[in-house]
Amino acid sequence: MKGAKVTQAANTTEAADTTEGVSATARWTAAARADETRRDGALFSDPLAADLAGPEGFARYERYANPGTTEFLAIRTRYLDEVIGRSAELTQVVLVAAGLDTRSARLDWPAGTVLYELDQPGLMEEKEKRLAELGVRHRCVRHAVGTDLTGAWHEPLRAAGWDPSVPTLWIVEGLLFYLAEDDARALLARLADLSVPGGVLAGDLLSHQSMVSEFAREGLRRLAEDGCPWRWGTDRPEDVLAECGWTVREVKVPGEEGASFGRWPWPPLPRDQQGFPMNFLFTADV
Ligand SMILES: C[S@@+](CC[C@H](N)C(=O)[O-])C[C@H]1O[C@@H](n2cnc3c(N)ncnc32)[C@H](O)[C@@H]1O
Repeated sequence: MKGAKVTQAANTTEAADTTEGVSATARWTAAARADETRRDGALFSDPLAADLAGPEGFARYERYANPGTTEFLAIRTRYLDEVIGRSAELTQVVLVAAGLDTRSARLDWPAGTVLYELDQPGLMEEKEKRLAELGVRHRCVRHAVGTDLTGAWHEPLRAAGWDPSVPTLWIVEGLLFYLAEDDARALLARLADLSVPGGVLAGDLLSHQSMVSEFAREGLRRLAEDGCPWRWGTDRPEDVLAECGWTVREVKVPGEEGASFGRWPWPPLPRDQQGFPMNFLFTADV
């Protein structure tokens, strides 16, 4: 495999054990990408996703299915693919909580791109093994770093070669609501602290309604039962990002221009709409 290398922070074994349920959510989102890949007019193609998801991923995909979830997961991936495509000048990229993401193999990266993938050590080890078995060829230089994103993860990232003097594109996809709010804010703030001018952050957040809406209740119950509860959401994503040191470029809800791709079948929910779960996609500059 071109450029593949795994490093692991020494103090992270305990974190891997206690977050097993959350790590398994990576299989769920891989199954969602596999499902999208099979659709006519798919928003992206991820041929490795079905294999990486495995039966457990597909079982979770079915178990957590909710109106809008399937559509949103496809839109989120495409949105972030487009952010990456528009940021070709940023050749240092970090997938924060990469899970079973295969962008290293499926995107057409600019020459010289160095991609770092961060996630729980257990998950990263399992992923490296499977990618090697599948003979996956990466299309950029790639470093897999097993670490706990609520700890001193920047140290193993640096040890893997990440250069603090180079502007970084950080992608935080499907992570922030699995962390306690304080941990999520600390992570966002550290990403800003580590960034030099030109750095960009893109990812997603949940609304507070997603935590309390009756339409979310059953899904939330199942996630909690499986050891991977969603922990928080905000109706003020712009403020949260600004408070953590970021200058918001855009926040979009599914269905808005640039966050629909013909895949969201409903009008976008008004931002002040109460009672319905809502997801936010964002891009911010340091
Ligand atoms: C829903 S998955 C998303 C993965 C990937 N970004 C995607 O979209 O498919 C959430 C990921 O967050 C990771 N994660 C959650 N808490 C973490 C932590 N404290 N440290 C490292 N990774 C964490 C899990 O291991 C899992 O891979």
